[in-house]
Amino acid sequence: MSNIPKSLIEAIRQAERVTVLTGAGVSAESGVPTFRGKEGLWKKYSPQELATPQAFAQDPRLVWEWYDWRRGLIAPLKPNAAHKFIATLEERYPHFLLITQNIDGLHQKAGSKKLVELHGNIWKVRCTKEGTVEEDKRVPLPQIPPLCSRCGALLRPHVVWFGEPLPTDALHQAMEAAENCDLFLVVGTSAVVYPAASLPQIAQSHGAQVVEINPEETPITPIAHWSLRGKAGEICQRLAQALQDTHS
Ligand code: OAD
Repeated sequence: MSNIPKSLIEAIRQAERVTVLTGAGVSAESGVPTFRGKEGLWKKYSPQELATPQAFAQDPRLVWEWYDWRRGLIAPLKPNAAHKFIATLEERYPHFLLITQNIDGLHQKAGSKKLVELHGNIWKVRCTKEGTVEEDKRVPLPQIPPLCSRCGALLRPHVVWFGEPLPTDALHQAMEAAENCDLFLVVGTSAVVYPAASLPQIAQSHGAQVVEINPEETPITPIAHWSLRGKAGEICQRLAQALQDTHS
């Protein structure tokens, strides 16, 4: 595992505007499967059959069964040291935004409040007719596919599927935070899904220093000022410790 460079600790201490982008890897140590890689969900399941508007139109029950299974898997899981470290960062900086591609809600469980969810949230459902969004944390869902209690139309998971645009507000906030930060931290993403993957590049081209935490190299590695190779929870624990040590 990488050592934590002193220059990075200094940069974290000096920064005033910090933006963090997370992907599935940040939740891996909590037990949430990632999408790509050896054990990734997309190795066993087809995104075309489960995570597109066409798939839902063709077989809403199948799509809901898969989401219901994932909700059951995620429900008992707890945030890890990386989620917790990231949650502490928002108190440290006057300007802070956490941008997550994850839909699992673990950042909120760790206490993060200043966050945008680029790909939605698995604990919310949306009426396909009215467009209304509601939280529904029942596991398993009592009825599959679930129906809107007001109008009876199909509900869908409030997540972004392949081929769908990202929520405009969330994307706008994310772009602004990428353009206006001095430190951009990228944790646990393969950085191959756009537009999220463009955010570190935008930050770097606007003068931010980029830090990557990932056991593997990614397309972000060449633009990162610091690449910390290892698991997010372990590295974040050491970062928190190093920050504490330099403080005292
Ligand atoms: P991926 O599964 O593509 O990538 C996970 C990344 O996490 C990889 O780069 C791994 O090397 C890294 N990783 C694995 N374990 C880790 C650990 N313990 N600590 C740190 N990093 C670790 O997941 P995402 O990049 O999040 O979109 O994928 C982006 C999007 O693609 C997802 O939001 C989802 C998916 O299709 C939608 O569903 C719209």
